[in-house]
Amino acid sequence: MDNYTNVDTQSAWLLLSGGPLVMVASRSRDGIPNVMAAGWSSNFEFDSPYVALDTTHTTSANIRDTHEFVICVAGIELKDAMLYSGTVHGRDVGDKFKAGNIRGMASPRLGITIPAGCLAYLECTVLPKWRPLFAEEGLLIGHVEAAAAREGLWDEDAQSFGKGLMLAMHYVSEKTISVGGELISVGSRH
Ligand SMILES: Cc1cc2nc3c(=O)[nH]c(=O)nc-3n(C[C@H](O)[C@H](O)[C@H](O)COP(=O)(O)O)c2cc1C
Repeated sequence: MDNYTNVDTQSAWLLLSGGPLVMVASRSRDGIPNVMAAGWSSNFEFDSPYVALDTTHTTSANIRDTHEFVICVAGIELKDAMLYSGTVHGRDVGDKFKAGNIRGMASPRLGITIPAGCLAYLECTVLPKWRPLFAEEGLLIGHVEAAAAREGLWDEDAQSFGKGLMLAMHYVSEKTISVGGELISVGSRH
């Protein structure tokens, strides 16, 4: 479950196609891990995903300080972790993995704690040219340093993440997500 197949950085954008809900993992300058839910992400270049972030989030402060983050594609198994991470702020609860009982694992390239069992992850740095845009507008454009999909979910021949996207969560409304075309009620976030 925790084994991953490496995906070429030029193909990393395919891990995001279809608009899955993601979890953005980061760490503070003091090394405290954090993670948050994000629905507003897509691809800017083949190896450059973006996420639109509220500049007041703990995640945003972390990334302004470290210029590193990981985008994790979350499957239905991570529904509760995704909702928790999207409801509380790291600055209020400290280590969100501990506070939310989210099982973590270190991403191999950057060593950032990510939710174990996620469907795929893209380890990113923020190039100097995009830092002012992020600081001022909250538009976070990453450069993929390494990417991987959970074993069995990446078809190397077809360059396809189709199996992963069938398990990914997609935002439908505040109380509904869809997975594999099925609508699932998640209750109120508040
Ligand atoms: C389903 C869902 C999608 C979300 N999408 C985004 C998003 O795209 N951008 C954003 O800034 N916040 C988004 N949020 C809100 C953040 O995840 C939330 O405010 C979180 O508590 C921020 O955590 P932090 O302060 O520890 O970084 C979303 C929340 C949920 C539940």
